[in-house]
Amino acid sequence: MTGTPQRKYRSDYQASIYLIDRVSLDFDIRDGSTRVTARHSVRRNPQLIGTGGRWWLDGRDLRLVSIAVDDEPVADGALEVSETGLWLNGLPDRFTLTVVTEIDPDRNLSLEGLYRSDDMLCTQCEATGFSRITYFPDRPDVMSRYTTRVEADAERYPVLLSNGNCIESGAAGEGRHYAVYEDPFAKPCYLFALVAGDLGVIRDTFTTTSGREVALALYTEHGNEDQCHHAMASLKDAMAWDEATYGLEYDLDSFVIVAVGSFNMGAMENKSLNIFNTACIFAHQDTATDSDFARVRDVVAHEYFHNYTGNRVTCRDWFQLSLKEGLTVYREHQFAIDHGSPGVTRIEQVRMIRDVQFPEDAGPRAHPVRPESYVEMNNFYTITVYEKGAELIRMMAQMAGREAFTKAVKHYLDKHDGQAVTIEDFVLAIEESTGLDLAQFRHWYAFAGTPRLRVSSRFADGRLSLELAQATPATPGQENKPNFDIPVSVALFDDAGQVVRAPEIVRLIEQRETFVFDGLAAEPTVSVLRGLTAPVRLEFDQPDDALVRLMAHDSDPVSRWDAAQSLYMATLKAAVTAHQNDEPMPALGEGMMTAVAALLADPPDDRALLAEMLTVPSATQIGEAFDAIDVAAVEAARRYVKREIAARFEAELERLADAHAPSGGYVFDQVAAGRRRVFATALDYLACLDTPAIRKRAQAVYDAADNMTDRMAALNALQDLPGEEREATRADFAERFADQPLVMDKWLRLQAATEDGDTAARVRDLLADDRFDFTNPNRVRALVGGFVRGNPLGFHRADRAGYALVADEILRLDAINPQLAAALAGLLAPWRRYAEPYAGGMREALARVGEADLSDNTREIVDAGLG
Ligand code: PHE
Ligand code: ZN
Repeated sequence: MTGTPQRKYRSDYQASIYLIDRVSLDFDIRDGSTRVTARHSVRRNPQLIGTGGRWWLDGRDLRLVSIAVDDEPVADGALEVSETGLWLNGLPDRFTLTVVTEIDPDRNLSLEGLYRSDDMLCTQCEATGFSRITYFPDRPDVMSRYTTRVEADAERYPVLLSNGNCIESGAAGEGRHYAVYEDPFAKPCYLFALVAGDLGVIRDTFTTTSGREVALALYTEHGNEDQCHHAMASLKDAMAWDEATYGLEYDLDSFVIVAVGSFNMGAMENKSLNIFNTACIFAHQDTATDSDFARVRDVVAHEYFHNYTGNRVTCRDWFQLSLKEGLTVYREHQFAIDHGSPGVTRIEQVRMIRDVQFPEDAGPRAHPVRPESYVEMNNFYTITVYEKGAELIRMMAQMAGREAFTKAVKHYLDKHDGQAVTIEDFVLAIEESTGLDLAQFRHWYAFAGTPRLRVSSRFADGRLSLELAQATPATPGQENKPNFDIPVSVALFDDAGQVVRAPEIVRLIEQRETFVFDGLAAEPTVSVLRGLTAPVRLEFDQPDDALVRLMAHDSDPVSRWDAAQSLYMATLKAAVTAHQNDEPMPALGEGMMTAVAALLADPPDDRALLAEMLTVPSATQIGEAFDAIDVAAVEAARRYVKREIAARFEAELERLADAHAPSGGYVFDQVAAGRRRVFATALDYLACLDTPAIRKRAQAVYDAADNMTDRMAALNALQDLPGEEREATRADFAERFADQPLVMDKWLRLQAATEDGDTAARVRDLLADDRFDFTNPNRVRALVGGFVRGNPLGFHRADRAGYALVADEILRLDAINPQLAAALAGLLAPWRRYAEPYAGGMREALARVGEADLSDNTREIVDAGLG
């Protein structure tokens, strides 16, 4: 916690001097302490000559009981123990290492290593949690075969699980029992897992294409089994999809998921024993919304897909994290597109990139998809590594064509099966298989920042010249950027909306290039960067009438949505400026009005797409359009535009709501979920008019709802309408779901997002409420994260009470869960993006955090923010 944190550099990589072929672990779980006996067969790395004798093992918060080489205790002189690990000296070329440590999972609130979540014990080892279990080379390029024995009280922990197959189990005397697991696949220690608890289970089977039967099990605390069926169905779906799409069959006889209440992230892909946050497993119509259902489906698939992209072929070092995450998110995205509305699924991905990744790439924490250095690896599980990493894969897939790319991924998996490799190995394999030249494309991995793509078009004599130019702003530590290889999809339409040039991909390689389209009868409407073919900011001034045409006719639903967003944005920007200049709000843009009218008169069949197109850009998107974010002006502009649309189209929106009103009989599928989304969108608009009728209607929807999606639609509509209806529905909600922590997270979010009176004080009260648990990350994210993200006016209050609250929570959390504290610090770090007085207030709070004695995790974020 003290001293200067150590920074690690990608260029410093050195292979491990010793390798461990076999790991044998024995966990003796007792109240107050767990004893871990580890026996390893070790040999010198044959690839490294002239080294050896001395070896570093990582270890943190461990009590070392004994350490022996070939069963001889290591002499004091041959052992140097420190806070972060130990050195062994005088080692032979081959030996058996035996390490005995004691740990106390009950007192481990970091949620890394072995820890308690309610009544069960579980592990989290990625990135470096294994070194909280035993002294070990905690790095992904040391791959070993594991045998694990777990022994515990039979009544308290009837279920004992670890990776691989259970090869033995039985009684161990004194009311205790044991189980032995063997994992036939060599793996890095970050994929190790263990669970012990009194758990309920649902079981199923999956038969692979080649006819093998895989036993599936999903464990959770008793009483939640009925919330796990959607996750189980999703798992089977994912298994079938990976066979059909990539020809990848599951490689063991059993696959187990355990859902735990306290978890720092969404889920973890441990070999054959995935551990999940309950928030990414539980899905029942009474308690989960349609988006919860979709998230469960996608995260279950994501972790399953890691079995090949991540586990069978893993990362050489943590700088290569996107090797497994970018590729797996890409596969998850493909899966999601095959399971929902393709257009809307892509729209959600695009929005994530623009709303979250672009700001990260423009802020103090900007880093390349393959970072060059880090202090704390846990700080690099970022939207850049995950989502931008996936976009880079998608670009390659587009350039190669989907089929050729799938083949190339298989080539990569065959070539490197069982190895720990680098992003460069991946790119090489793709080049080998597809024949693409990715020399310049590689810059995407090495350089941070979002390129700007400026487009201008000229038309004369039946010829359209499209000029594309790129420029990338500097990011911290990277002043100069090279030219990127940018795939840009282009299509041309005539005035009637007919295609005159089918979509094609052009590659911008130089700083500036002109692409010519000949033989055109008249000036066409240009559609570029369709579906975001590259993660760049498009700068293309198109007239309203062109945007209106694209919105109505473009063959790509994502482009239609994008055109609508541009039309809204013009009015929103004008409204922000008017608010800042104390001028009256502008009239709604002609183009925007035409667009909304056309949408309501002739809605697309895809109802989810209709809902998306009716939704005005988020506050984040609006803020992104300005050099300095003026929170109050953005909020005022967004509210004004929504209210104006609602007032102008009240009758149409009423009809839309009526036509999509809940009708009972909940199913989670694309059509039904799309209808619910339209209903919620219409209700949200009508609520802007704050009429007694809409309040009553929302309450009636709430009371009659047979599912959480409709309930939340009603509660959201009432969000800014203080009064009887809001109080009654919220009180009912709190009582009805009092014993469902994940639903109470929704309630906490609602409270935190309500902007009236003293929100900061209300959030402070909730922090002290029984329904809040400071040690559970889901609760913290709901209340504190919900406040910052869901309540911009409350968080950015002029008296700075919102900033102070967040700073206090960062400091309080840092002592128990540094990973989560660092994530919260990330909310204050981008203060430079804001206008005054916001920037100064955020900076002041961040500086106060920086004065404390912090974990390396939080220190890294705070220093980046203040630097
Ligand atoms: N590897 C997990 C995933 O699939 C994420 C994770 C990282 C979980 C670190 C826990 C700790 O994305
Ligand atoms: Zn992942």
